[in-house]
Amino acid sequence: MYKNKMVVLEAKENILITGGCGFIGSNFIRKYIGRNINIFNVDDLTYAGNLENLKEIEEKENYHFFKGKIQDKEFIKQILIENNIDSIINFAAESHVDRSIIDSAPFIETNIKGTSVLLDLTREFNIKKYVQVSTDEVYGSLGEIGKFTELTPISPNSPYSASKASADHLVMAYVHTYGINAMITRCSNNYGPFQFPEKLIPLMIMNALNNKELPVYGDGMNVRDWIHVDDHCSGIWAVYQNGKSGESYNIGSDTEKTNIEIVKLILNILGKPESLIKYVKDRPGHDRRYAMDSSKIQELLGWKAVINFDEGIKNTVEWYLNNLDWCNRIIDGSYMEYYNLQYGNN
Ligand SMILES: NC(=O)c1ccc[n+]([C@@H]2O[C@H](COP(=O)([O-])OP(=O)(O)OC[C@H]3O[C@@H](n4cnc5c(N)ncnc54)[C@H](O)[C@@H]3O)[C@@H](O)[C@H]2O)c1
Repeated sequence: MYKNKMVVLEAKENILITGGCGFIGSNFIRKYIGRNINIFNVDDLTYAGNLENLKEIEEKENYHFFKGKIQDKEFIKQILIENNIDSIINFAAESHVDRSIIDSAPFIETNIKGTSVLLDLTREFNIKKYVQVSTDEVYGSLGEIGKFTELTPISPNSPYSASKASADHLVMAYVHTYGINAMITRCSNNYGPFQFPEKLIPLMIMNALNNKELPVYGDGMNVRDWIHVDDHCSGIWAVYQNGKSGESYNIGSDTEKTNIEIVKLILNILGKPESLIKYVKDRPGHDRRYAMDSSKIQELLGWKAVINFDEGIKNTVEWYLNNLDWCNRIIDGSYMEYYNLQYGNN
């Protein structure tokens, strides 16, 4: 005789992911959708967000998409109520420094106002956990030595980084004032599949493939600390799982490279000549060097970057080569307008 077994279903966590159709958010969703969670992705589908980035998982029963803005309080409120949301991970942002120099208004709207709406709702609806995805750029610029730690004073230099720093301050203020359970991740420069081609690495890959000039700002000696997007995602997951409220966590992979080194490496992988490089007028207020000390997340949460840069960059170039259709579909007239404004007069 079979006994009736009582089946105890483990309740799935309902996570609101914002900006999940962008570069990092879509990599994060693809990586973690297989877990015992429900993902509710809110994205406004700006020029940087594409449904196509999540095509391979969009039919999954634990994935749900809502188009709209994070600063639209009523819209977000409805989603929280109807879906019994437990936690929020905020990826949504205007993310490109050069665009923030042309017009900072959308950065203020999304990055500051949008974050404040999410924090208000976190408080109002007793959301159990809130993770703010931030950046190393909030720390400003380093000299030739040293690294950013979580104790480095916030000192942003671009409208983009100032808007992200404002959001970080709001997060900490809401923890302090209202006792919400929130944490911040600050990551260095990401590379990998599905990055919009305005950013350094995909821009250089696409231009090289099309035998177009590769515009390099100033003397090309600005240093960034590169990390593969997959490592960034596992860092955010570690903080989401075990991070402590009121704490920020640096995420980096100790891979400092000058811009010109990156550009030459891409040309080399693609077998293209260095004569394609064109030095152009520097970005105003261009931060010279970023470098991250991520010992805190390594020691406290056991996270570590695992993707070697040389392998990661080769795979990324290969991904773009295999996905030229994706690139051509997401680059539209408005992007070309921006591109010509940015590089046309150099
Ligand atoms: N790319 C990097 O190297 C890097 C490094 C560190 C931190 N970050 C941070 O990680 C997050 C994601 O960056 P990314 O590179 O994936 O950016 P992205 O520009 O590729 O994607 C941003 C996404 O947010 C969406 N979005 C924009 N405004 C919105 C709004 N008002 N409401 C809802 N959705 C909106 C866009 O449609 C897009 O899908 C950002 O917060 C960024 O500041 C990025």
